Amino acid sequence: MLQCTCLKFDAPEHDPQGPDATGLRALRGVESGLMKPVRIVLRESCLVSDPACLVNPPVRILLGPGPSDIPPRVLSALARPTVGHLDPYYLLLMDDLRGKLQTLMRTKNEMTLAISATGSAGMEATVVNLIEPGDAMLVCVNGVFGGRMADVAGRAGADVATVERPWGEVFSPADIKAALAKHRPKVVGIVMAETSTGAWQPLEEISELVHDAGALLLVDAVTSLGGVPVEVDAWNIDALYSGSQKCLSCPPGLSPVSFSSAAMKVILGRKTKVQSWYLDVSMLANYWGTERVYHHTAPINMTYALHESVRIILEEGLDACFARHALNHRALKAGLAALSIEYSAQAGHALPMLNAVKIPAGVDDARFRRDLLNRFGIEIGGGLGAFKGQVWRIGLMGHASRSKNVLLFLAATEQLLQEQGVSFAHGASIAAANEIYAAAG
Ligand SMILES: Cc1ncc(COP(=O)(O)O)c(C=O)c1O
Repeated sequence: MLQCTCLKFDAPEHDPQGPDATGLRALRGVESGLMKPVRIVLRESCLVSDPACLVNPPVRILLGPGPSDIPPRVLSALARPTVGHLDPYYLLLMDDLRGKLQTLMRTKNEMTLAISATGSAGMEATVVNLIEPGDAMLVCVNGVFGGRMADVAGRAGADVATVERPWGEVFSPADIKAALAKHRPKVVGIVMAETSTGAWQPLEEISELVHDAGALLLVDAVTSLGGVPVEVDAWNIDALYSGSQKCLSCPPGLSPVSFSSAAMKVILGRKTKVQSWYLDVSMLANYWGTERVYHHTAPINMTYALHESVRIILEEGLDACFARHALNHRALKAGLAALSIEYSAQAGHALPMLNAVKIPAGVDDARFRRDLLNRFGIEIGGGLGAFKGQVWRIGLMGHASRSKNVLLFLAATEQLLQEQGVSFAHGASIAAANEIYAAAG
C-alpha cells in the first residue's frame, strides 16, 4: 500500500493534460496494484498530490488576473482558532477591519464592510441595493466586467442602458456626458480596472458629471483596490466593491464594499424590498453596526485573513504600496518592450497590476502558458471574451508585485519564446527591466 501522499513522476513531455494528470493516473495505478511504485524522478513540474490525502497543492507563482500570491502571514492568520460569529473577539475584529478598509478606500463611510462572498457578490450587492424594479441604470461597457454589471443590473429589474467603448479603451468625460443626457439614469456603473483588457479608467471628472446629472456613481474596484489610489470620498463615489484575491493578496471569498451616506439615504428610502435577502445592506448594517443582530454565519477565518492582508498593506503605507506596483509595472513593460511585446490597453491607461499584452505573432498561446506553469510554476492569464487567444494577462498584484517575479517571468519568457522560434536579442528584457530598477535606486 502506498504510504506517502506525494510522488514525483517522470511525465512525457507532451501529455495534453499536463504532467500532473500523468502523475495522477500513475498514482491510481499504484494504488490499485496494477503498477509498481514508480521511480522518483527529480522533475519539479511533476509533483503530484493524492487528492484523497492531506491537501497538498503545488506552490505556484500567481502572476495571472487573480488570485494573487498570498503572504505567509495571511495564510497563518487563516489557521488561527475559529471563534463564534458573535464572539466579543470577533466583533472587535470586525470593527477594526472596518476601520482598516476605510483607510484603504480613503473614506469615512460608516457603511463599509466585507460581503461574505467574492467580488461578483459585491457587484450584486451594490446594484441590488440601489436599484428598484424599473429604475434607469447606465452601465459603461468596455470589457467583460462592465458586461457582467449590465447583466446583473438587468436581472435586478433595472431599465439598463449601456455606453460602450472598444475593448482596451477607456471612457472620456464627453462619452459619459452624452450618455447621461440621453438616458437620465438613477445610477451609473463603471469599472475602474477592467481586468479583461488592462485598461485603467479615470473617475474624477466622470464622477462630477454623474452627480451634476443627479445620479449615483457605482464603481467596480475589484482589481484596483490596493494597487492604485482609490479615493472614495474625494471622488464622491456612492457605492464601491472590491475583491479579496487581487491586490489585497488574500484568498478569494470576501468582497469589501462601501456605501456613501447619499447611497444609504436612497437605500433606506426604498419602496420595495431589496431583491436579495443575503445582500440587503440594511440588514447587514444590523450585524456590522452596534446592534449585532445575527444575519448569517460570517466566514470567521477569512475575516482573519483579510484583516491581516489589509494590515500588511497599511504597514507598508498606501503610497509606498502604489509606488511599488508602479515600479514593477514599469520594469515589466520595459522588459516586454525589449521583446517587442506591446500592451493592449489605450496608451497612457495601462493598469500597473494587470498587464494585458498582445501575444507575439506565431506563438502558440496554450503551449506557452502550459510550459510557463509546468516548468517554472508561473501562472498567467489568457485572454477573455473578445481578447481570447489574443492577449496574455500578466498580474503583478499585491504580494506578487515584486522585482524577483518580474525578472523570473522575463527570463522564463525569453526561454519559451526562443523555443518557439521567436527572434530577439537574448537577455535584452532582463537588462531593460534592471535599468528601470537601477534608475529607481
Ligand atoms: C473587474 C472585476 N470585477 C468583478 C470581478 C468578479 O470577481 P470574483 O471573480 O471575485 O467574483 C472580477 C474578477 O476577476 C474583476 O476582475
